[in-house]
Amino acid sequence: MSSGGRSHTAPPSSERRPVNLPRLTEMKENGEPIVMVTAYDYPSATVAEAAEVDIVLVGDSAANVVLGYPGTELVSMEEMIVLGKAVRRGLKTPLMVGDMPMGSYESSNELAILNAQRLIKETGCQVVKLEAGGVAVERARAIVRSGIPVMGHIGLTPQTATALGGYKAQGKTANGAIQLLEDALALQSVGCFSIVLEAVPAAITDAIVAKLEIPTIGIGAGPSTSGQVLVFHDLLGITTGHMAKFVKRYANVHETMVDAVRQYGAEVRSRHFPEPDHVYSVEPAELAEFRRYLDQESLASAKAWEWEPLP
Ligand code: KIV
Repeated sequence: MSSGGRSHTAPPSSERRPVNLPRLTEMKENGEPIVMVTAYDYPSATVAEAAEVDIVLVGDSAANVVLGYPGTELVSMEEMIVLGKAVRRGLKTPLMVGDMPMGSYESSNELAILNAQRLIKETGCQVVKLEAGGVAVERARAIVRSGIPVMGHIGLTPQTATALGGYKAQGKTANGAIQLLEDALALQSVGCFSIVLEAVPAAITDAIVAKLEIPTIGIGAGPSTSGQVLVFHDLLGITTGHMAKFVKRYANVHETMVDAVRQYGAEVRSRHFPEPDHVYSVEPAELAEFRRYLDQESLASAKAWEWEPLP
């Protein structure tokens, strides 16, 4: 390759450069798939860092997979900030996206800017994401104008899933697909740097992606987006129970964790844990001195008992 050519080989981990917006544009232009995953705490962030993903989203899916709420609409700004701060401590190179929770941006541009600034300043994320078209387009425009990059999110938008008729694929009718395309174009026109497409038929995604210039990230939207995102707990098999059609499990960490904790419990109960390797030793001389002290102590207390006057 000539010195002016572009290398598609990522540099080794220690030299990995932080992923920024121009790099995402470059990846889209080069046809290099963008890898995005969610993270919600320090350990998940360090896993994403070590695995060299490009984008980490502190998603409001934390509501379900970390906080145990039944829906994402229940998570608050305060909770998102606590989680985001922990993620920041574990990340160096991926672009960090802060998800704006329901209620933090819909009612006015002022509120949207204020809360986007809170996410940036308090968690250290570099960009924010908000859901849906409609009023969210205006909010995205306002946040972008305030200097904060925005990622859009269309298709199945969990914060408004009830209004969409539940957790189901979107854009399955011609009218639905037209609406998705219009939302995508509107989000691009107000300056969103990227858009997530969730649960959209692959053929509809193909057509939408072809009309957009900005990078797109898919989750259940087929292979033609510039990148893919999955929820950390879903891909690792930490979450249990029903999974969306688009989830691929790469591990069964829940089972591994239950097995390990069960084995620990069994070893405590059978007194096989702790083993000699897990205990601290003490210098024999120090132990002998301590024992002499204990002997004197017990002698002294026996005497005190002997001489104690009767009440
Ligand atoms: O909150 C989240 O995890 C998301 C992704 C599914 C894109 O919004």
